[in-house]
Amino acid sequence: MNQLLTVEDLSVAEIDHLLELARSFDAVLGRSVPKVPALRGKTVVLAFFEDSTRTRASFDLAARRLSADVATFAAGSSSLSKGESLRDTVETITAMGVDAIVVRHPHPGVPLAISRYTTASVINAGDGRHQHPTQALLDAHTLRETLGDIEGRRILMCGDILNSRVARSNIALFSKLGAEVIVCGPNTLLPPHSGSEMFGVSVEVVEDLDAVIPTIDVAYMLRIQQERIADAALPTLREYRSVYGLTVARADRMAPQAVVMHPGPMNRGVEIDPDVADSERALITTQVANGVSVRMAVLYELLGPGQFDDRDSGTYALSAEFDLINPDGSHDETQQHAEQEVVR
Ligand code: CP
Repeated sequence: MNQLLTVEDLSVAEIDHLLELARSFDAVLGRSVPKVPALRGKTVVLAFFEDSTRTRASFDLAARRLSADVATFAAGSSSLSKGESLRDTVETITAMGVDAIVVRHPHPGVPLAISRYTTASVINAGDGRHQHPTQALLDAHTLRETLGDIEGRRILMCGDILNSRVARSNIALFSKLGAEVIVCGPNTLLPPHSGSEMFGVSVEVVEDLDAVIPTIDVAYMLRIQQERIADAALPTLREYRSVYGLTVARADRMAPQAVVMHPGPMNRGVEIDPDVADSERALITTQVANGVSVRMAVLYELLGPGQFDDRDSGTYALSAEFDLINPDGSHDETQQHAEQEVVR
């Protein structure tokens, strides 16, 4: 693996491996000095051509927690505004000696295009309506940590499926991991589908949110993407909430152990009521926290020495790269053995 462009590129063994690695990094993040020298000497560029809070900040933190150098490419103040092409821009960044470029862009396919212009590893941090693979991985990590396993779980993806890269990525990844995926939303916000097949995987399409609510393990609410929706696609937001919103009354009808997820940013009071978003069922802040360890796992897998070998079926070599960094910044190899259990 030297790129992460879509979840389609990941085998189940690779997903399991990345999530195991993320568990190791959760342990690192719980230390008093939450940092390891695994990617010392590597350089990660954050190239965000579209706004982001969670993804940009967590990739930035993830790279720094691994001791990589981080450079931020600000599209708005770059020479793109003087007419420089995307290709020339990427080749210019590459010439400076970077190891990975993390790309967010409003247009589908731009991370793939960039991967053709650079020798650096490219990570898709969200491209238009297309894909958001690290969001799907962090959501799978969150569910495994919370529910124990994903296989056989009934996961409802609700809302603006058509415009959501999170829906595309998560439906594919949850399905790969053996979940029953249920899709619910207004017809105008569902992609074309034949029967129960959507984005190439088998899903259950339901019209009545109230009927399905008591049967699910996970209610994954999607943001109404007002910036991508033509005016005619929706009635009023109030009407949307009454039919497709996760209101307090609906959340009260969920099974006792069922959980609520949202990728953020939320439209509180539209797709999810504030009291539901802040309730004990909600995993929304856990999702954000897990974004750091999952993105550490992805960066480590792409740039670190422990390249995953599918034939190894989920095992990976322990490495001195996981050694501790002491509060004074020194690198303490003698403590490695004491930490091995945590790392593994
Ligand atoms: N979930 C997500 O991608 O959020 P940001 O747009 O804030 O990165």
